[in-house]
Amino acid sequence: MRAPGLVSAMADRLSGRVAIITGGASGIGAATVRRFVDEGASVLVADLDEDKADALMADIGLPDRVGYLRTDVSKEGDVAAMVSEAVDRFGRLDVLFNNAGFGGALGPVADTSVDDYDLTFDVLLKSVFLGVKYAAPILMGQQSGSIINTASVAGLRSGYAPHLYSVAKAAVIAMTKTFSLELADAQVRCNAICPGFIATPLAFGRPDATEEQIDKMRKRGDGGQPLGRVGEPVDIANMAVFLASDESIWITGQEIAVDGGFSVGPPWAQWAEPFRTHRPIRHHRPPDR
Ligand code: NAI
Repeated sequence: MRAPGLVSAMADRLSGRVAIITGGASGIGAATVRRFVDEGASVLVADLDEDKADALMADIGLPDRVGYLRTDVSKEGDVAAMVSEAVDRFGRLDVLFNNAGFGGALGPVADTSVDDYDLTFDVLLKSVFLGVKYAAPILMGQQSGSIINTASVAGLRSGYAPHLYSVAKAAVIAMTKTFSLELADAQVRCNAICPGFIATPLAFGRPDATEEQIDKMRKRGDGGQPLGRVGEPVDIANMAVFLASDESIWITGQEIAVDGGFSVGPPWAQWAEPFRTHRPIRHHRPPDR
């Protein structure tokens, strides 16, 4: 089963807003850049991958609405510069989407080096702290804004992803909640999206994965999802549009799974006959006295 086309019933839901999207050159981030621009926002793409960012910008073809800054989200100086660049270029900031990520350290705990541990947490968790640290003063000053963090279903439950990735994403959810409490007084919201299995280079395990490779992965993953297909980047982008817009104005501190039902449990059909075929109930209620 394939994803439905772009849902854009209400156009311009982000008209005049300015957003930073980290990891915006590929996958979920790139789909979100496109959706935000469709809805009227101006966007700064912050990513390490210049080639993919250049290709995306050329494809969108709106240089006055979409800018790019080469950014390593694990570096404090880069994140500070990213926030300044968005404000200098577009005059304000309304939305920060902390989305950049990678698979992090793989393998058994005894084989994981401390350097890999540090890098995993720097890219997946410190990046979120840094983004909020530099964006929050601007958003709080204007008494409005939406921060969206990409966590994962792997942050909700163990066993969906490698150790440190899962721990970092659980911490992203915790960080989202605790930051949301501090920012709420200033009407700045902070929510996390927990994607399920989304067809991107990251899920394939290689940033240079081809469309053909990703398509094969889609077909292999379809049956494991209650809604019958793996997720597409636009499925997450649609939630990001909602969380960035005023439609979600009373929602903060939440972790929202967008996963085709994956985190709810195994697909019903996998439980086979006893659950699908009607039989009279054999009950053991004692007879009435
Ligand atoms: P992707 O590989 O298509 O995109 C990730 C982007 O992040 C790339 O453009 C990459 O250059 C950028 N990036 C990586 N490290 C960076 C750094 N240090 N500084 C700046 N940019 C950096 O992957 P995808 O799937 O779009 O991932 C986006 C987010 O979604 C990640 O946080 C990932 O953990 C999360 N996620 C993805 C899932 C999936 O199944 N694809 C499932 C759950 C969460």
